[in-house]
Amino acid sequence: MRRTFIAGNWKMHKTPAEAVALAKELVSELSGSSHKVLVAPSFTCIQAVGEVVKDTNILLGAQNMATVEEGAHTGETSVLMLKALGVDAVILGHSERRHVYGETDEMVNTKVKLALQHGLEVILCVGEKLEEREAGQAEAVVELQTKEGLKGVSEADLAKVTIAYEPVWAIGTGKTATPQDADDIHKVTRGVVKSLYSDKAAEEMIIQYGGSVKPDNATELMGMENIDGALVGGAALKAELFVPIAQYDK
Ligand code: 13P
Repeated sequence: MRRTFIAGNWKMHKTPAEAVALAKELVSELSGSSHKVLVAPSFTCIQAVGEVVKDTNILLGAQNMATVEEGAHTGETSVLMLKALGVDAVILGHSERRHVYGETDEMVNTKVKLALQHGLEVILCVGEKLEEREAGQAEAVVELQTKEGLKGVSEADLAKVTIAYEPVWAIGTGKTATPQDADDIHKVTRGVVKSLYSDKAAEEMIIQYGGSVKPDNATELMGMENIDGALVGGAALKAELFVPIAQYDK
């Protein structure tokens, strides 16, 4: 049985004071949650939020990291820095990183391996753009991103990987993939994991859906056979929206 995993990606929102206030609300309201819950604040808020969620059931995430451990990389953040701040997991290959900042599958794969090598959990994001969906390429795009993202990852390390299917056209747009459309892609993704690893690895892989997840669509999405959680953007910024998503019941 896969454990539901609800993650909040706070993107480039909130000052440290605002982030701490939200984290405190989540800690008090989600202490009894049966689901795995993570928050991923911006880099400037990780330390402060980390102090709030330390020793609670809420995990600490980061939204990105560099492809190398250290060096002359102005503006980048190293896995070593994230580890030192107590980060548990890192979101990699988010569509905004891929399509706004030009990250390639190869870069994403390098980051995935580096994070795993340092014992971080990884949320590997995959998802097609609108034109790719309209051209009937959604499955092929997700398949390729999944294969490339996981290249060189051992089956033992795979236990620390979550895949997040985030159709680019559904992010921040209010458009959600229908539960069936999302489940179809999740099923394809699980099939890729099976072909690369094993039946067991595919069965155990947590696959989150992301893209305009809200309290009123969370239950239906998460009720689908292959949808094991959510990667939430906009609705993760307010406790009154994130708490009901994180507490939905299957
Ligand atoms: P929204 O929930 O705002 O659509 O964002 C989804 C997302 O990109 C999470 O990583």
